[in-house]
Amino acid sequence: MQAGENGLTTELLRQLTTQAADAADHAYAPYSKFRVGAALLLQNGAIVTGANVENASYGLTICAERSAVVRAVAEHGPEMRVLACAITNLNQAASPPCGACLQVLSEFMLPASQVIFRGHSDWEDYRFEEVFPHRFKLQTSR
Ligand code: THU
Repeated sequence: MQAGENGLTTELLRQLTTQAADAADHAYAPYSKFRVGAALLLQNGAIVTGANVENASYGLTICAERSAVVRAVAEHGPEMRVLACAITNLNQAASPPCGACLQVLSEFMLPASQVIFRGHSDWEDYRFEEVFPHRFKLQTSR
């Protein structure tokens, strides 16, 4: 984990990973048993967490990252921006964000925002634009 060019301290990022792990305790994952937690550091300094919420109709499952984003908008409003997102799970597995979550996060993260996730051996830390360089953006002709 690196302090990085956006000025976030290693201590703050470590705190974010701890909160992501704590959030995974609240996951509702009776089907996959894969419990995921995410923690978002917002531009206003707040930390907002989320956990995955599964459903018997599997496709309705909401990932931890998206549950955190929805909560962050509900609590802080649509102008909120995410400086860092930490993701982990309680299954000792790698936890990179899925493509759907990256697309949703892309509305609120900045190119230099950090994505930190548990990798196969250690935490991995990337700029958002490294993990998701081409986001879908609605272009309207009028
Ligand atoms: N999951 C997440 O919470 N985040 C991801 O980025 C990928 C997958 C959840 C969804 C499902 O409840 C479980 O992990 C297994 O796919």
